[in-house]
Amino acid sequence: MEGPVLLTGFMATGKSKVGRALARRMGWQFLDTDAMVETRAGKSIARIFAEDGEEAFRRLELECVVEASRQRHAVVALGGGAITQDGTRQAIRDAAGVLVCLQADEETILERVGRRGTRPLLAGLTREQQREKIRALLAERAPYYAVADITLSSTEAQGAEETAALLLRQLETWHAEG
Ligand code: S3P
Repeated sequence: MEGPVLLTGFMATGKSKVGRALARRMGWQFLDTDAMVETRAGKSIARIFAEDGEEAFRRLELECVVEASRQRHAVVALGGGAITQDGTRQAIRDAAGVLVCLQADEETILERVGRRGTRPLLAGLTREQQREKIRALLAERAPYYAVADITLSSTEAQGAEETAALLLRQLETWHAEG
């Protein structure tokens, strides 16, 4: 396989966990653009949003996406909103890798983000407001996620290892057919 595996999908669909498990199975490097942004800024994403605003976050995110997508043998977990940026979509095309979208249903997402509270886009909202926001963002982003080469759902029951194993088989089929 040549070219990176890029993982997109909404917040809390398991991109980092599945991506790390997939990278281990492939013997490839794992990169997480959220973690790269935090290292570069020297602070958490929540603090970047609070102190510098979403635009500043998106600029940093784009730099990290461009850098990560240049790696040939890497599995890259993209932040959930990265693909809405023109520059990210261009970087994905330039990478000539495989774009994978992980999906989870609204209830699962709500349950997972509620557990952690680290997502600034959903911070300070009641559970009902979070549900509304998730629904609106999912609708707005659906066309971007829809262009993925492979789409699969990550369910709690299945676990990250099993999802990664399933994804690896799909990647092999995809490459064989490509
Ligand atoms: C965001 C998703 C987050 C992070 C930031 C913004 C989004 O990443 O990049 O909070 O716009 O959906 P995850 O998808 O890893 O939660």
